[in-house]
Amino acid sequence: MPQSLPSNLVHNLLSSPAPDIPLNPPLDSPATVAPPLPSLQIGPLTIGFPVVQAALSGYSDAPMRVISRRHGASYGVCEVMLDQFLVALRDRQKTRHFLEIDPSEHPVGGQLMGAEPLQFAAGAQRLVQAGFDVIDINFGCPVKKVLGRCRGGFHLSQPQVALEIVERTRAVVPPHIPVTVKMRRGLDDTPRSRERFFEILDGAFARGVAAITVHARTVEQRYIGPSQWSFLREVKQHVGSKTILGSGDLFTAEDCLRMLRETGVDGVTVARGSIGNPWIFREARALANGEPCPPPPSVAEQAACLREHFRLAETLYGPRCAPLMRKFAIKYAARHPCADQVREEFIRAGSAPDWERVLERWYDSPEHLNAAGVVPALPTDLNEA
Ligand SMILES: Cc1cc2nc3c(=O)[nH]c(=O)nc-3n(C[C@H](O)[C@H](O)[C@H](O)COP(=O)(O)O)c2cc1C
Repeated sequence: MPQSLPSNLVHNLLSSPAPDIPLNPPLDSPATVAPPLPSLQIGPLTIGFPVVQAALSGYSDAPMRVISRRHGASYGVCEVMLDQFLVALRDRQKTRHFLEIDPSEHPVGGQLMGAEPLQFAAGAQRLVQAGFDVIDINFGCPVKKVLGRCRGGFHLSQPQVALEIVERTRAVVPPHIPVTVKMRRGLDDTPRSRERFFEILDGAFARGVAAITVHARTVEQRYIGPSQWSFLREVKQHVGSKTILGSGDLFTAEDCLRMLRETGVDGVTVARGSIGNPWIFREARALANGEPCPPPPSVAEQAACLREHFRLAETLYGPRCAPLMRKFAIKYAARHPCADQVREEFIRAGSAPDWERVLERWYDSPEHLNAAGVVPALPTDLNEA
């Protein structure tokens, strides 16, 4: 991976890929007053800050997206949904929460995948009815069962079908709602796969797609090995002024700004790096403003965020939310000074009162922790509001 740069300068370099720009102008010099990052635009929609919440199946539901937005993400995409599922969905069904949109989170993207162009378009119409501001087409999912049913990443092997999906979707979605595509950099590393990638990329833009997110791993790669950022740079250079968002290996705020700078993409989508870590967005905003990276969230701040995330989930899912929140809690726990113990307790928490007990014990009661000898010295900011 290329080296990272001082945080107060990284965005100054965004418009210039040259690595030999002086890195250390005096801090009080006007040169350090950072120009704002270019605002991200998706078709007619102004997104603004170009660091957004990625689509994450099993995670990026309305509660997670709201939490990310409150911490600085300017846009978020829901978990991928099957076109068939959307078409069959009835208003009163238990699974309707997939279509939940919080009034505070606009603009928000709805994502779908499927195999057959006509059904795909019908699914897209359901997402429009549900109120999503952007319709995102998934040509990237690498899950075996998905590929076996000719969905997701499978489409990278059949540009004609992929482009028919784009065309039919664009045709049924109202013109003011942008249609976007999410794709991986190919099925595998063969020249044929690369050719097909560019055929779909160019064909999709020619059919009116407003932006394309590229995860710079192949479908075959799944999550093994690095995301090839040099490919993102190549894609951006290839499309010129058209909008490209980059994906892959964004685990810190520095990573986000580095991807913007090194590849020239118009926006970046934070995926695994945002699970249990919504603070990545405020950190990215600070760095983009030329400010130092904010300190990590205090234990009290973590507790407030966990409680709010749980409250939002409880409102949406009802009492069954505690088991659903476990996967988030495990990730949040990683930031606690006693990460292993907190994680174990969250794993065992099966109800709202259990969850609250873990919070009280590990996040609200420093005396208790000290008495138990679990942590000899807790952070001084533990009881901050
Ligand atoms: C658990 C999980 C679920 C995902 N679900 C989706 C999804 O529903 N739609 C999508 O386009 N990408 C999905 N992705 C891919 C991510 O959006 C992203 O492209 C990928 O994780 C690479 O970014 P990262 O290396 O920074 O995590 C998923 C990834 C993970 C790990």
